[in-house]
Amino acid sequence: MIITDIWFDILAILTMMIMIHADTYPECGKFCMCHLGTNGYRRAICNGSYIPKLPVSVKSIEIRNTNQKNIGRFDLINLTLHTVHNLELSGNSIRHIHQDAFVNLKWLSVLTINNETYLSVDVLKEALTKLSSKFIKKLRFTNNNWKYLPYDMFASFINSKIRKVYLTGNQFSAINGSAFRFLTLCENLILENNKLTEIHFQKMQRLKKLRLDGNRLAKVPNFCSIDGSLFPRLECLSLRDNNIGNIDRTSFICLPQLVFLQLSGISIDKLQNYVFSNLKKLEHVNLEMVYTLKRIEDFAFNSTSIKKIVMPNCKFRFDLIERFNPTTIFKFCPNVNYVNLGLNCLPKIPNILHSMFIPLENLETLMLFSTNLIELPRNLLTNFRKLRKLNLKNNKFHTFHQSSEIFGNITSLKSLDISSNLISIMNETSLPSILLDNLEKINLGSNPFSCTCDQNWFLEWIKQTKVNIVGYPYKYKCRYPNELEGQYLKSYKPTGDICNPWNPLYTIAIVLSLFGVSILVIIICIWICQNNIKNTVYLLRVVYNHRQGHVAFDERLNYEYHAFVVYCDADREWVHNVFLRKMESEEGIKLCIHQRDFDIGKNITGNIDKYLEKSWKVVVVMSNNFAKSEWCQWEVDVVQERRRRQGKDALLLIMLKIIDSKHMTSPLRTLLESTPHVRYQTGVGEDLF
Ligand SMILES: *[C@@H]1O[C@H](CO)[C@@H](O)[C@H](O)[C@H]1NC(C)=O
Ligand SMILES: *[C@@H]1O[C@H](CO)[C@@H](O)[C@H](O)[C@H]1NC(C)=O
Ligand SMILES: *[C@@H]1O[C@H](CO)[C@@H](O)[C@H](O)[C@H]1NC(C)=O
Ligand SMILES: *[C@@H]1O[C@H](CO)[C@@H](O)[C@H](O)[C@H]1NC(C)=O
Ligand SMILES: *[C@@H]1O[C@H](CO)[C@@H](O)[C@H](O)[C@H]1NC(C)=O
Ligand SMILES: *[C@@H]1O[C@H](CO)[C@@H](O)[C@H](O)[C@H]1NC(C)=O
Ligand SMILES: *[C@@H]1O[C@H](CO)[C@@H](O)[C@H](O)[C@H]1NC(C)=O
Repeated sequence: MIITDIWFDILAILTMMIMIHADTYPECGKFCMCHLGTNGYRRAICNGSYIPKLPVSVKSIEIRNTNQKNIGRFDLINLTLHTVHNLELSGNSIRHIHQDAFVNLKWLSVLTINNETYLSVDVLKEALTKLSSKFIKKLRFTNNNWKYLPYDMFASFINSKIRKVYLTGNQFSAINGSAFRFLTLCENLILENNKLTEIHFQKMQRLKKLRLDGNRLAKVPNFCSIDGSLFPRLECLSLRDNNIGNIDRTSFICLPQLVFLQLSGISIDKLQNYVFSNLKKLEHVNLEMVYTLKRIEDFAFNSTSIKKIVMPNCKFRFDLIERFNPTTIFKFCPNVNYVNLGLNCLPKIPNILHSMFIPLENLETLMLFSTNLIELPRNLLTNFRKLRKLNLKNNKFHTFHQSSEIFGNITSLKSLDISSNLISIMNETSLPSILLDNLEKINLGSNPFSCTCDQNWFLEWIKQTKVNIVGYPYKYKCRYPNELEGQYLKSYKPTGDICNPWNPLYTIAIVLSLFGVSILVIIICIWICQNNIKNTVYLLRVVYNHRQGHVAFDERLNYEYHAFVVYCDADREWVHNVFLRKMESEEGIKLCIHQRDFDIGKNITGNIDKYLEKSWKVVVVMSNNFAKSEWCQWEVDVVQERRRRQGKDALLLIMLKIIDSKHMTSPLRTLLESTPHVRYQTGVGEDLF
């Protein structure tokens, strides 16, 4: 319960605080809305049939759309309670204002009469005569459809501090500048969007800014007086959107302090030589002249003061050499630091482009958007040591071939816009790294990105760079391949194995190592299987000889035994259990074994002689045991001796075990070298043997 109460209190306090700080004030009544104005004043916007009493803190009152046809003598009486600084009557269909209606607006600083198309300028003039001019600084009589300006319109402000006068959006076709002669401190005179075809100024000593945009002036008004300049302090002149058909070097001759000249939308077809040369303070010229400009003379921009040349959207044919001189156009304006040639047609030939821009050594901003550029000339930007901003949006760049030669070692560039071009791949060679390292922002949006592995560098760069990538990720979409079209580049995440393509060197390396391994295996095999191989060779030779008819195989039929086996006692087990069984049971070869077949009682030599006679071949089973035993070697000697005598030399040696070199005797070696032998192999190769 207690907690709920406290909670309720907090809510109540919060609500009060919100109400205090709210920028609408309920006390302004049903006809007015009050706001906190931008300048810190409270501002009331009223639309009722009368002006109510408002809080005294309200300093600015706008009476709009009330359909109040008549402002009587006391209709603004409730305003006298206030120190009203700002009064605006707008769209009320006022037809009459009592001539004393403004009497009590003693603190008025800004008076705006806007969109009161039923109000005659003369009626207003009468009322103004009673307005205290003490604090008035700004008059705005705009969009009232007035056809003329009375020559004494401002007579009552003769000693006023009026600085700004707006007469925008009326129907004036001519103004006699003597109307402004009372406004001796006036600095800004805005006469935009009338129907002025002529205007005759009188001297306005303090005027700094004159805007005549959107009129029908056929020529630049005269600014000269018999004693020099009508506007000796004019800094800003805007003649935008008039019918002015010609300007020359005398047009602005009497404006010695002019800094800003706005000539966009005038209808000149030629920018003449030295047209700005007399304006010693001119810094900024706007020449946005859609389609009309056909020629720029060689020395048009001859000016040491000009810093900013803004001529976008002229559709000027810089690609036609007869329209301008590329080598002189910017040659005599050395202080230019800003050039905007967007929406013109720039030359395709890099050399021409190069000679055009190369004199602009102080360039800080270069805007070349929508200029049909395909490539930039080499070494162009290397010359611009102060270039901070480069806009190449909406051109036809695929890539910057030899980007390091175009951009050089440029470190000054902070902002680069190459959006809406034809760039599909950004990789480490697309832009020099020194450029990227120094950039603050880059715009590559709306390019037809290729979502393939070639893009990997860019995707990685985006992740780690501090450069502000303007428009990322929403303006960065895949165009290729077709199945990814429209997908955000950000969501393209190629996997590592797709993107590390097979290097042919890898193939070569693998083939080479496989080859090496195979050779090694073969060598090891040969080493391990040499006995088998030798045996195979032997077998092949036997078969070959047999085929050739060298060996009369049928000869064996004349003998009782196919072979006489010589072996030593130690190898008896192998001979009896393995060799005999294999040969006699499986192959059907009959062998003569002394322990089995010799006649008992006869002496050994006799037995050997007898059974050798009966045997076709002699098989000697050799081993270390064999080599060690003198008896066995004697037996071999005897066998050999007998054989030689009988003329039969068919001796077959079987190496049961390799004979160690220490047991090798020279007769044995001679025997091995002169006689073919097979090596016994257990396991693999036994069958072959
Ligand atoms: C007058 O202003 C009030 C708010 O103060 C608003 O609700 C009303 O719609 C406005 N009436 C007209 C005709 O503009
Ligand atoms: C002045 O304000 C009061 C109260 O808001 C209102 O009744 C009165 O009509 C206003 N006077 C005029 C002349 O508008
Ligand atoms: C001018 O005022 C009328 C009412 O008098 C209104 O209908 C119209 O919208 C206003 N025009 C502008 C441009 O504010
Ligand atoms: C402008 O008005 C003055 C009187 O204030 C007059 O002397 C002058 O001739 C007028 N100039 C033109 C061009 O009408
Ligand atoms: C540029 O204009 C100035 C002043 O009119 C002149 O002195 C200078 O010779 C001109 N330069 C060229 C190259 O015409
Ligand atoms: C860029 O700098 C390197 C070394 O700092 C230099 O060798 C090279 O010539 C420079 N390139 C340009 C275009 O100035
Ligand atoms: C970078 O991309 C371009 C095509 O835009 C290509 O010609 C170049 O070989 C690529 N460079 C590297 C290092 O991948």
